[in-house]
Amino acid sequence: MTAFVRDQWYVAAYGSEVGRDLLARTILGEPIVFYRTEAGEVVALADRCVHRRYPLSESRLDGDRIVCGYHGFTYEPSGSCVFVPGQSRIPRTARVPSYPVVEQDSFVWVWIGDPARADTTLIPRAPWLADPAYTTVCGMEPLAARYDLLVDNLMDLSHETYLHGGYIGTPEVANTPITTEVDEDRRIIYVSRHMDDAACPPFYAKSTGIQGRITRWQDIEYHPPCLYLLHSRIAPVGVLPNADGTDPDGFHVEVVYAITPETEHSTHDFWAVARDFALGDQEVSDFLAQSNRTVVLQDVEALDILERVIQAEPQGYQELSVNIDTGGLAARRILKKMAGEPEKAATR
Ligand code: FES
Ligand SMILES: [Fe+2]
Repeated sequence: MTAFVRDQWYVAAYGSEVGRDLLARTILGEPIVFYRTEAGEVVALADRCVHRRYPLSESRLDGDRIVCGYHGFTYEPSGSCVFVPGQSRIPRTARVPSYPVVEQDSFVWVWIGDPARADTTLIPRAPWLADPAYTTVCGMEPLAARYDLLVDNLMDLSHETYLHGGYIGTPEVANTPITTEVDEDRRIIYVSRHMDDAACPPFYAKSTGIQGRITRWQDIEYHPPCLYLLHSRIAPVGVLPNADGTDPDGFHVEVVYAITPETEHSTHDFWAVARDFALGDQEVSDFLAQSNRTVVLQDVEALDILERVIQAEPQGYQELSVNIDTGGLAARRILKKMAGEPEKAATR
């Protein structure tokens, strides 16, 4: 697998998941406990008591402090221990690491790596998710597969035709060539597939109400390691945006994935679908939420199988890559570079 990329921001949770209950989540192999202070600030601490490793997530909050459920060591949101039972002296090393966190675009982002390098301006944006001009449905599915399999999966949407037929896949997706661009400096990979005259899959027919064939654009923008954006535009065949960029007759769906490694063999698969039509229409929201979750679970099932296949095979199995893999290969190359691995291994 591709090694973990550290010194990066990762989506740890939706803001709505973090409250006054302690939330345990492992990110890049690091067990972390999340909660909100009484003032509403998100706190992220290492989820192991310094005393005997008891998970702080199995403990309780006393105001803004966590009281360890085993022997009562008590921690401030900074991670400093302020109470040790049976003695007044607090050992100097009695503290748990605290993680930098930022709430943005409905996500809680956590910095994994050297806290001194946590530059909040580096967090990639997904502004639609918290924008009232869009209605968003979202979820998170646990994936029992290494994160790079999910990256591969999302960078090549030709699989929609085969794995997601009847939902978002139609023959035109696999049959239309892609263009791939890599911005090496900003570390962004773009993969585009523009279908001029395509069948309208149920996912879009039911939600937009368009009858008949469509112009369908899929523009991927991957910000490795964590954030994947799919700008999807649907319109009746031949309807294009205006020259000034306005697009009143197009339907826009911003599909957002956050790809957060949990362990070397498991991943948090966050997904969100934001639309600029049928705003607030609960029936459309329910349909898109249910269909997209079904699609995500089809991927999860396939990638869980692949993970088992890879774990059971001997080292050095050689894959065959073709044109549709250009974006995925670029992603692997950049992830390996970011992880500090030699480039020659980029195809595997
Ligand atoms: S393990 Fe936490 S106080 Fe002992
Ligand atoms: Fe998929």
